[in-house]
Amino acid sequence: MLNNLKKITLLFSIILIFTALTGCDLNNGKRIVRISHGQSVTHPQHLGLMAFEKYIEERYPDKFDIQIFPNELLGPSVKAIELAQTGAIDFVVSSTGNLETFDDIYQIFSMPYLFDSEEAYKTVMEDENILKDIYESTEKAGFRAVTWFDAGSRNFYGTSPINTPDDLKGKKIRVQASPTNIKMMEAFGASATPMSFGEVYTAIQQNVINGAENNELALTNNKHGEIAKYYTYNQHQMVPDMLIGNVKFLDSLTDEEKQVFTEAAALCTKVEMEAWEDSIQEAKDIAQNEMGVNFIYPDIEPFKEKVLPLHKEILAKNPKLQPIYDSIQNVNKQVADAKKLEEEKQ
Ligand code: GCU
Repeated sequence: MLNNLKKITLLFSIILIFTALTGCDLNNGKRIVRISHGQSVTHPQHLGLMAFEKYIEERYPDKFDIQIFPNELLGPSVKAIELAQTGAIDFVVSSTGNLETFDDIYQIFSMPYLFDSEEAYKTVMEDENILKDIYESTEKAGFRAVTWFDAGSRNFYGTSPINTPDDLKGKKIRVQASPTNIKMMEAFGASATPMSFGEVYTAIQQNVINGAENNELALTNNKHGEIAKYYTYNQHQMVPDMLIGNVKFLDSLTDEEKQVFTEAAALCTKVEMEAWEDSIQEAKDIAQNEMGVNFIYPDIEPFKEKVLPLHKEILAKNPKLQPIYDSIQNVNKQVADAKKLEEEKQ
């Protein structure tokens, strides 16, 4: 099964590189715009991207043919980003963890327990002043972020219960291809095993790893709940996914087209976020009641204690993160102060 998938992916990649080299990316005179992502077709991101496709195609029925490739069909995330650098793919959805090796500004999101609340996280993600530099950071690498997706909070899950950080000792836990995430996992006391998202199911099944960390949709959309029966809400990260686009393609658009793509990107995020909460509720329901996954609600403090010293270490090594970090801490404080005030009023 995996081999077949790999063969299909390889075939797609060869076709893509060939079409990119020969410039044959037209379908009946329409420019084919390829979007790659790693989720299933029921995932909120896919729903958001379908709205993106519809919005653009309705306005340019003869000009653009938007094609969405789910399930890592065009390759695992890092490979797909590389294809977006060359222009073989026009857009890719990527977790910020996987973007870190293209520009280390993305390390900011991998800092564990960076956001104090979901509200602070969403406020930051909607703040253009904070996000501008991040969005444009990868221009030199050939791509630019055009919008973001909520990807909930990341939590540990595995084949045995994780109640405290001690339960992570000696466990092999999958991480994304992100140096900061590897460091974080080591600080938690686990052994970090980097691999692509699509490889996680088989790796757990074959005991190559003891678990992974992700939002709840990994249990259902990616079926990890079939083999990992314990999910622990330690909430170490709120990490967005970014929709990144090839710079040459984006720059080739007319001003009017640019405007339409920008509106489509905003709609895409809106649709994704509206579907997110319901999807999470549904995933929890299915995981618990149909797959027999146990949800664990631990004391988060001991988890925090293990990894908070990483903030200082990361900032010292990558000083350009400091102003972004400070702005985020400011938002954390503002949100907390507003909440306090609200509580005092009641
Ligand atoms: C989440 C995220 C993906 C990412 C995946 C991973 O599902 O939305 O973009 O690739 O985690 O852990 O690799």
